[in-house]
Amino acid sequence: MAKIGLFYGSNEGNTATAADLIKQEFDKYEPDVVKVHNIADASVQDIMQWDYILFGISTWDIGQLQDDWSAFLPHMDDLDLRGKKVAIFGLGDQYGYPDTYIDAAGVIADKVLERGGDLYGLWPAQGYQITGSRALVEDHLIALGLDNDNEADKHRERIAKWVRLLAFAWGIGEYEGVVA
Ligand SMILES: Cc1cc2nc3c(=O)[nH]c(=O)nc-3n(C[C@H](O)[C@H](O)[C@H](O)COP(=O)(O)O)c2cc1C
Repeated sequence: MAKIGLFYGSNEGNTATAADLIKQEFDKYEPDVVKVHNIADASVQDIMQWDYILFGISTWDIGQLQDDWSAFLPHMDDLDLRGKKVAIFGLGDQYGYPDTYIDAAGVIADKVLERGGDLYGLWPAQGYQITGSRALVEDHLIALGLDNDNEADKHRERIAKWVRLLAFAWGIGEYEGVVA
């Protein structure tokens, strides 16, 4: 039975594809543990029914939120995320926009914390060619950073590691039984 609600927004499909890869990876731990939703069709109630939540967002127009997330943002003030465990993944272009790489993920992270949620899935910033980001906290990104424009070949490895950490932290499936 699904335990995690994944909500993504995507202008050109890159974040949607990443959402599918993340779902597939969680499936290895526990089949159908993730239910995927497009934030364009989601409500506050849809999010509130989950205790474990994944948010996926791309950054557009130099540090701005993806269109559907931008429309949903005001509704986030109606979320009560106290006791909810949340992790975020962000799509961006680190070479094209090194100053604002996955900024939108940082905006969503701030909102999650403001609404009382617990953030999981921080990710080392080492190896990314970035000079600034709203998602940057010391030497970590507050979200898994994916870069479809330049490093799509790294998606599977990054997602596998990130999901492994979340599966462990959230008690999904038989953690010991999964071979890396
Ligand atoms: C006009 C434009 C502006 C962008 N601005 C940013 C940006 O500020 N930061 C960033 O990390 N990526 C930026 N990107 C890259 C997109 O986030 C990236 O292509 C992403 O994979 C799109 O995902 P989506 O198809 O799910 O919306 C921009 C892309 C375009 C075309």
